[in-house]
Amino acid sequence: MRIRPATIADAAVLADVHVRTWQATYRGFVPDGYLRSLDPVRWRPFWQDRLRRPEEGTATLALVPDAGDRPVGFVSFGPSRDDAADVAAGEIFAIYVLPEHWGTGGGRMLMAAALTALADAGFGRATLWVLDGNARARRFYEAGGWRPDGLTKRDESRGFPLDEVRYVLDLR
Ligand SMILES: CC(C)(COP(=O)(O)OP(=O)(O)OC[C@H]1O[C@@H](n2cnc3c(N)ncnc32)[C@H](O)[C@@H]1OP(=O)(O)O)[C@@H](O)C(=O)NCCC(=O)NCCS
Repeated sequence: MRIRPATIADAAVLADVHVRTWQATYRGFVPDGYLRSLDPVRWRPFWQDRLRRPEEGTATLALVPDAGDRPVGFVSFGPSRDDAADVAAGEIFAIYVLPEHWGTGGGRMLMAAALTALADAGFGRATLWVLDGNARARRFYEAGGWRPDGLTKRDESRGFPLDEVRYVLDLR
């Protein structure tokens, strides 16, 4: 596996990785009807936009197998988007690996590359939000030294509640 910058040519594949991984991860946490309604084709414009016109300081890296160039995972990151964010904080916005590649070290490679980029950009710490009940992701973050900082929030933007906890990592 290797890491490379995601390009606009990856938009459709990243939309597919995003939706398929969401469906596998959040089954049981969110209504089945909502999961079934997720459609990679409808997510494509979001990815085209994110890749064509990334917000200031943000980036997306792709995880690709040694053979071939089709991404099987991605990480997006940049300055923290939290209200009243500490300017020293970078944020991991999303890290997703297709379920058939879980546990093979790809997530770790993506995270390491994102944290190096955030540290190189001058951020002294990083934060991320994870669903309270997402045990696999929480175990993954904690193995990498991330710790919950006590902040929680409820996201109701999808019409059902998602409770999230914030994690923080010192980059110095
Ligand atoms: C979370 C996710 C990105 C991890 O990716 P992955 O490729 O499965 O992770 P890896 O194979 O690199 O790491 C797996 C193992 O290494 C451990 N690990 C990760 N980073 C480590 C580090 N820096 N040091 C030591 N161990 C580490 C993990 O705890 C894990 O151990 P486990 O198998 O005992 O649980 C992936 O499971 C995923 O896409 N999940 C669904 C989407 C999701 O939940 N994203 C996060 C939303 S906030």
